[in-house]
Amino acid sequence: MGVSFDKIDGVRERAARPAPEAAAAKGTGMGLKFEIQPSAVPTPDSARAAKLADPGFGRVFSDHMALVRYSQAKGWHGARVESRANFPLDPATAVLHYAQEIFEGLKAYKRDDGGVNLFRPDANARRFRNSAERMAMAPLPESVFIEAVEQLVRIDRAWIPGGEGSLYLRPFMIASEVFLGVKPSAEYIFAVIASPVGSYFKGGPAPVSIWVSENYTRAAIGGTGAVKCGGNYAASLRAQAEAIDHGCDQVVFLDAIERRYIEELGGMNVFFTFDDGSLLTPPLGTILPGITRDSILALARDSGTRVREEAYTIEQWRADAASGRLTEAFACGTAAVISPIGKVCSGSGDFLIGGGAAGPVAMGLRKQLVDIQYGRVADPHDWIRKVL
Ligand SMILES: Cc1ncc(COP(=O)(O)O)c(C=O)c1O
Repeated sequence: MGVSFDKIDGVRERAARPAPEAAAAKGTGMGLKFEIQPSAVPTPDSARAAKLADPGFGRVFSDHMALVRYSQAKGWHGARVESRANFPLDPATAVLHYAQEIFEGLKAYKRDDGGVNLFRPDANARRFRNSAERMAMAPLPESVFIEAVEQLVRIDRAWIPGGEGSLYLRPFMIASEVFLGVKPSAEYIFAVIASPVGSYFKGGPAPVSIWVSENYTRAAIGGTGAVKCGGNYAASLRAQAEAIDHGCDQVVFLDAIERRYIEELGGMNVFFTFDDGSLLTPPLGTILPGITRDSILALARDSGTRVREEAYTIEQWRADAASGRLTEAFACGTAAVISPIGKVCSGSGDFLIGGGAAGPVAMGLRKQLVDIQYGRVADPHDWIRKVL
């Protein structure tokens, strides 16, 4: 099944004059109402229950999607929630050639009272807007981003797994102008899809092993490291494959100039814990400003922990692990929340952290965050948005 071409083909839209209500929506997104068209053939309850029994990560999808279009003539328009379907794309669609694409990742969590929480969707909306600006794409109003996510969660609430599962939401935007030429697209499609996911770690978080990438870098000053564009991930895959070849779970990147400073993993930020109780994480700049990273910094500060956003070299990491000054290291992000790092491997040898086991700081922060996300404890920073 496909979305009909008149819905996403921008050629006709370019010629059209903006309607008054579309002009109101332009820029601010004010006046943009989502048209809700529930699927005529939703997944039967029994089939959905079978899929939710063991959804894994990113392979099962809900029945609907949210869509909003942009053209220079109409601004943001055509907001709708409808049956999840293929996008028919002309072979000359800009995104297929010049990779103007950005995305986000956040989750909806089912509370014990049956309601549904989103965790800091405003932060995702802001980061999405920043990503759009860096990629010379039309910035989506943050209110439209949040409304699209909420509408999708409401219509697909039956797809939110219970227990430690959640509904992973994937907002994304592609350049949809049919044009061959290196310039910002004049048309965009913003969409949100949803994928039920189980707990990332069955039986509690297992420490991961990390490969230090000495051959490949992820980002440089002035580049796109701080935004969430698909190209960053395409460029990280070779390094991640190298990690797997060396028997490691994940890759950690070093800075592109001195090749010494720890930046982040392919899809997670990184923290270090020291024997004086302090926490350190690499500073923002070329890394993705993770929402989990920011939340951990806030929770640690709340509890009086000294936190530093400072550069840290691979040599120092190795020396501190050997001396015992470093007690823990962990990676963090929306998908896995917090993953303890047990082992670091590189061309110049391997070392263990905390004997290779998960440490109390990582596990304590993880529980604090997860309890807030599922609404089990107070939410002192007003991070939770109740959708239902
Ligand atoms: C490169 C990268 N760093 C860090 C993160 C963690 O960000 P967040 O905590 O917002 O999920 C992600 C995941 O989105 C990522 O892709």
